[in-house]
Amino acid sequence: MAALRAWIAGSVPGARLPTSRALVAKYGASPVTVQKALRTLVAQGLIETRPGAGTFVRAVRTARPLDYSWQTAAMRSPHSRLSALSPALRAAPQGAIALHAGYPDRELLPERLIRSALARAARSDAALIRSSVAGLPELQSWFAHELGAATPVGVTPPLPSDVIVLPGSQSGLATIFRALVTAGRPLLMESPTYWGAIQAAAQAGVEVIPIPSGPDGPDPDALARAFQETGSRVFYAQPTYANPTGAQWSDAATTQILDVVRAHGAFLVEDDWAHDFGIDTDPRPVAARDDAGHVVYVRSLTKSVSPSVRIAAVIARGPARERILADRGAESMYVSGVLQAAALDVVTQPGWQTHLRNLRPQLRARRDLLLTSLREHAPDAHIATVPAGGLNLWARLPDATNLDRLVADCEAAGVMIAAGTSWFPAEPTGPFIRLNYSGPNPGAFADGARIIGQAVTSNH
Ligand SMILES: Cc1ncc(COP(=O)(O)O)c(C=O)c1O
Repeated sequence: MAALRAWIAGSVPGARLPTSRALVAKYGASPVTVQKALRTLVAQGLIETRPGAGTFVRAVRTARPLDYSWQTAAMRSPHSRLSALSPALRAAPQGAIALHAGYPDRELLPERLIRSALARAARSDAALIRSSVAGLPELQSWFAHELGAATPVGVTPPLPSDVIVLPGSQSGLATIFRALVTAGRPLLMESPTYWGAIQAAAQAGVEVIPIPSGPDGPDPDALARAFQETGSRVFYAQPTYANPTGAQWSDAATTQILDVVRAHGAFLVEDDWAHDFGIDTDPRPVAARDDAGHVVYVRSLTKSVSPSVRIAAVIARGPARERILADRGAESMYVSGVLQAAALDVVTQPGWQTHLRNLRPQLRARRDLLLTSLREHAPDAHIATVPAGGLNLWARLPDATNLDRLVADCEAAGVMIAAGTSWFPAEPTGPFIRLNYSGPNPGAFADGARIIGQAVTSNH
């Protein structure tokens, strides 16, 4: 490709490339490699193929600066400024130690199960049908039974018809906020919390009220006061291995919080994003304790099955479920049947349980390696809670730290970290960073911690 690009750069537009056979001979590459290089150059707009005539260098049009200022006049100022890219979604340059991202490395995914599930799904009827808005019945059943299995005696488990399959939980959050809160009304959220939920709330036009949350979850009295003072009837939270803190609500806290939610005739939107990432404990979905429709449960498979088989579900009962379903219909109509069939295939294989069992010690080893590396090389990065599950460490840095400069310094030294700012619905309560221990190359954690330690020292 590099050789061809150089050749193209030295040619005039319309010049004809040598034939594939000549390129194979000239570069000593296989025909497959030559075809692949040509296809890439076509995609990059450098050459074009005219069937029967050959491959030609395309005319390059010089770009002139364009003026789109009329658009801002037409659109006016946005109601809320959504940022297109969270720090957690930035692409890592090759060779960088990537501790910033939110997704597990591919070596932690059930690759064999995914590949065969996708192949089977491609051959099945799912490849040709339109799913219903609520999803494939078998997948609805699987989600319902999974939560049902955690339901204690005396509580009625959810029905498959309570389940709505989503193309990832992110768009489900916007749906839930639109459907249950509605624009302009208040939504309570743990703080800090998942940046994507903050964005979804902004997108839905709801007013976010932060509720401080610690290692045991939020203070039930503070939650009760916020319900009373704001008139809000919806509380978004992550009771299990919260992103970013890793906190898991204690049983006692869960009971009290559920009581507060019930007493105020409110909803708890439970985002169970890390259900498959228990390390020292097991997940305890709060939704399993409720059959009166107070808990709206969001369960994602994106990170544990594959970011590419992006499937999640929301389980809601009563009229709330109907509102959410109506919003989904208006938003996206239905989720790809192939992806639903593939996700169902993966999670119903015996190998899925084996995969989850093997994942636990791998996550533990990575978490502990990053923790010990930080203790040794970045002792000023204070981690209040060792997470019992999830993918992240949440570290508080010395108060005077210049966070933007610290992140830039780390990046210049080859370590990508996420400034904690995006995880706060309002002003950050201190300089925090989030470090993901499930990314690629844990062998580089010690080097990463050393670079973070140096950057912390030089930035406060
Ligand atoms: C707490 C939380 N909720 C939801 C999501 C979005 O998940 P999905 O990929 O299913 O949209 C994430 C992804 O990072 C998350 O951390």
